[in-house]
Amino acid sequence: MVKVALVGFGTVGQGLVEILVEKQAELRQNHGFDCQICGIADIAKGSVIDANGLDLEILLASFQAHGDLRHLPAFQEKNDSDAVIRESGATVLVEATPTNLRTAQPALRHVTAALETGMHVVTCNKGPVALAYADLMALAHKNNVEFYFESTVMSGTPVLNLVATCLKGCRISGVAGIFNGTTNYILSEMESGREYRDVLEEAQRLGYAEADPSGDVDGWDALAKVVILANVIMGENLRIEDVERQGISHLQPKDIAAATAQNGRWKLIGAVRRTENGVKASVKPLIIPLTEPLAGVMGVTNAITFATDLLGPVTVSGAGAGKQETAFGLLNDLLRIDA
Ligand code: HSE
Repeated sequence: MVKVALVGFGTVGQGLVEILVEKQAELRQNHGFDCQICGIADIAKGSVIDANGLDLEILLASFQAHGDLRHLPAFQEKNDSDAVIRESGATVLVEATPTNLRTAQPALRHVTAALETGMHVVTCNKGPVALAYADLMALAHKNNVEFYFESTVMSGTPVLNLVATCLKGCRISGVAGIFNGTTNYILSEMESGREYRDVLEEAQRLGYAEADPSGDVDGWDALAKVVILANVIMGENLRIEDVERQGISHLQPKDIAAATAQNGRWKLIGAVRRTENGVKASVKPLIIPLTEPLAGVMGVTNAITFATDLLGPVTVSGAGAGKQETAFGLLNDLLRIDA
């Protein structure tokens, strides 16, 4: 039995609970996976604790009716994420608060507290992984627990776990790809003549964009993923400030048309490569010729090409953002812990 404390009940946290309700029987039958959510904490929606497992159908119905967790019997007057982590009886923390790339807080505090008390941690929050991967991994090893974060890069599309399992034995000397769903969606829709602002608002409504969408359009979200990829799969020690960054907000309809005229397409490309002078990393919009595979990656879809020694280039493409897609990454990490 996996007993979860869920901190952060926004789009992705809700998506995870919805999947657990929908797939409960299938997950039990096919994978022997039994999961209880013993506590939820959200700064805006309140906290609930039930060490015997919350009734998720009642929880979702109440949340849909009221927009918060206040009307549930397990509601805690004191909204305290640390209490949900330490006092719910959970063995795994799922950290799904919004990303903060300046301080990584409050997620870094949550993740550290859980690892220190011997809980496994699964997170979709890029802050702790981009800013403190090595320290958190060392803490997880010291406490003999797992720290998984598949959905920090390309939502639930397998990237980090794929490298750890299926590409084990290959050396990866570089990666390049489209790592932000919101900006790829905006650039794709602008090609059909839609206005930048309209498409950005739609991306926010669809749950693709960060809480502060400047994180997407200014390139910060893709940059965090570049740092995570460099440090986790290439063994580098890259920091946020080491990455060259340019966003897409300066691109005008005339720039989109100019790319089309030269048989190309703007894509926000994140890249890491090893050079004789050390590792180089960047996030910037580039015109990609239509003959190249990345030019065909449209909408909220992302793609990554790994440069490997034994296989040459290996490309994976799939969902880059979204409620269910990101929640799937959390579920898959939970399944790995339960294996
Ligand atoms: N805002 C991000 C994106 C979500 O658009 O790709 C996934 O990290």
